[in-house]
Amino acid sequence: MTILVTGGTGNLGRHIVERLLFTGRPVRVLTRDAGVARPPEGVEMVEGDLEQPSSLAAALKGVDALHLLGATGADHAPLRTGREILTMAAEAGVRRITVLSPGNGQGLDDAVRGSGLEWTFLWPVDLMANALAWGDAIRAEGRVREPYGDRRTASVHERDVADVVSIILTEGGHAGRSYVLTGPQALSPADKTAALAAAAGREIHFTHLTDRQARELWRTQGWPEEGIDFMLRMWATVPTTVADVTSSVERVTGRPPRSFAQWATAHAATFRSLGSA
Ligand SMILES: NC(=O)c1ccc[n+]([C@@H]2O[C@H](COP(=O)([O-])OP(=O)(O)OC[C@H]3O[C@@H](n4cnc5c(N)ncnc54)[C@H](OP(=O)(O)O)[C@@H]3O)[C@@H](O)[C@H]2O)c1
Repeated sequence: MTILVTGGTGNLGRHIVERLLFTGRPVRVLTRDAGVARPPEGVEMVEGDLEQPSSLAAALKGVDALHLLGATGADHAPLRTGREILTMAAEAGVRRITVLSPGNGQGLDDAVRGSGLEWTFLWPVDLMANALAWGDAIRAEGRVREPYGDRRTASVHERDVADVVSIILTEGGHAGRSYVLTGPQALSPADKTAALAAAAGREIHFTHLTDRQARELWRTQGWPEEGIDFMLRMWATVPTTVADVTSSVERVTGRPPRSFAQWATAHAATFRSLGSA
């Protein structure tokens, strides 16, 4: 039976897809535009839009396990069509589902709990891969500019999230649970900058920005206005619990989560300037 991955073309989802391919199960990815998507070999792409459930019938056909995004769009708005999607999924034969949501009662959470499916909520507090957004500025000028530079988050490696999704969808045993997924330590953007400098073997400076300076910078980088609003609102209101390290990755995978230093070493080439090694 097939596993359907929504968001499978994204920064996180492509790791989930790669990990699921190792299990030997047929993997299908939902995308809004199959002409743009570049799937790995062996993956079936099917077009559909989560905001238009009627477009999802082909994607759900023959699927017994589903990884579902809990939010879409640049403003990460909670999915409003969850109830319809879950009804269609159950009718199509889906039994097991991982949902990318804190599971704290917002958005589609009630629909998931009442769906009759084997559900598990998964919430990565912050993906280590978000640091890739600093790549251009680091390569060009050896500097990271961010607001809230001292705010610590227990960021999680996207491959750990992928391992967790794959284990839950293919092996089961986690129905009715909500897991906050974190790495092994909480780091601030300034701490991460230092870790990237150590891994890349070069100086990288950190500049603290005010909200206004951040808005101006992100506009020049072409960010959509709703994406800027989302980020600034998120940082201003995020609870200090995002720095709390959980045991969820180890509980599901049986091994400790990967560290940011490991992530930085694996991505060191991305942060070296063109002139350096
Ligand atoms: N970054 C973080 O730290 C973090 C933390 C917690 C949760 N999350 C959540 O994790 C999810 C994935 O993050 P990411 O960084 O991998 O995102 P991303 O790289 O921006 O990718 C977004 C993905 O969502 C799909 N998508 C968006 N709207 C869709 C729609 N209406 N119908 C179907 N597919 C749609 C896109 O597919 P196509 O473009 O191919 O259609 C793409 O695969 C997001 O929902 C985000 O809210 C992220």
